[in-house]
Amino acid sequence: MSAETKAMLETLRSVLEVPGVSGSEENIASTIADMVRPYVDEIRSDALGNLIAVKKGTGLRRVMLSAHMDQIGFVVTDIDDEGFLSAHNVGGFGPEAFVGKIVSFNNGARGAVYIRPKKDGAERSMYDVYIDLGVTTKAEAEAKVQVGDTACVAFQLTDMGDRIAAPTMDDRAACAVLIELLKAISSDGAARDTVIAVFSSQEEVGLRGAGTAAAAEEPDVGIAIDVTATGDTPDVKPKMSVKLGSGPTVKIMDRASITTPSVREGLIAAAKRAGVPYQREVLTFGGTDAGAIQRTRGGIPVGTVSLPCRYVHSPVEMVSLTDMVQAARLLAEYLKA
Ligand code: CO
Ligand code: ZN
Repeated sequence: MSAETKAMLETLRSVLEVPGVSGSEENIASTIADMVRPYVDEIRSDALGNLIAVKKGTGLRRVMLSAHMDQIGFVVTDIDDEGFLSAHNVGGFGPEAFVGKIVSFNNGARGAVYIRPKKDGAERSMYDVYIDLGVTTKAEAEAKVQVGDTACVAFQLTDMGDRIAAPTMDDRAACAVLIELLKAISSDGAARDTVIAVFSSQEEVGLRGAGTAAAAEEPDVGIAIDVTATGDTPDVKPKMSVKLGSGPTVKIMDRASITTPSVREGLIAAAKRAGVPYQREVLTFGGTDAGAIQRTRGGIPVGTVSLPCRYVHSPVEMVSLTDMVQAARLLAEYLKA
């Protein structure tokens, strides 16, 4: 494993370990702030919980790079007399997605996710999901957790060689890419655009953080870094050409944005100059921060560089370290003034 790949894996591990369900990003924001502080000129946060780190360049452009630091998870809606928690999804996933998993709360409390048995073969919904804290009374549960607290799947990383499986690759894999990119451009001495690195909040509940960050920072170009689905697993639908391990993607469109043609071509040219393989991506569902950035102020040119990820919004989201390293190289080249 190269030094570059090893550093990427260590950074990935550090950002995967910290919980941060949408709206509760304080812990992951402070972890990332500590990691990037030595490599940037300015660092700030805003009312939505975005973390904004600016690396001044010599070029004329101000380029916003956005990787969301929030993750999908559960919010506690009720605690019953036996201490079982009712829990609803924050972000998009179905009732079966995390059954049989351990979740952790921001205060360190842990619980097991399970689901009520099917009645008469009827479909189950999120209202059938509960969390078992290992207690027997409401009072014991309330000593650990309150209604409104959020929980995410507990950290667990499996290193399969180049491929790594863990919950929360969406979008901490991109946070790791952005952190490693800031490190690389702070030390290689190349002339570059000013980089406004936004570790955005509340993406999973509707791209909320990136829009206000873009409105405040007024970038000339906005680029989201996010995971995308792949079409390379058994019987996957819909048909999609993206493959894990075949390089980062340049998004053409998804349901939230159509990439600005000049940005799309600029990213493709950068991939070619950097000698990085890239894939053209059309995603028929979902969206990225680019959708929110594009529609702020009078309109901002946007693009998305995606990391292919199998099993998005599951406990075994799988990415390739090589794709991550290549995404950082592609973006470093794009930023050259
Ligand atoms: Co997501
Ligand atoms: Zn995402």
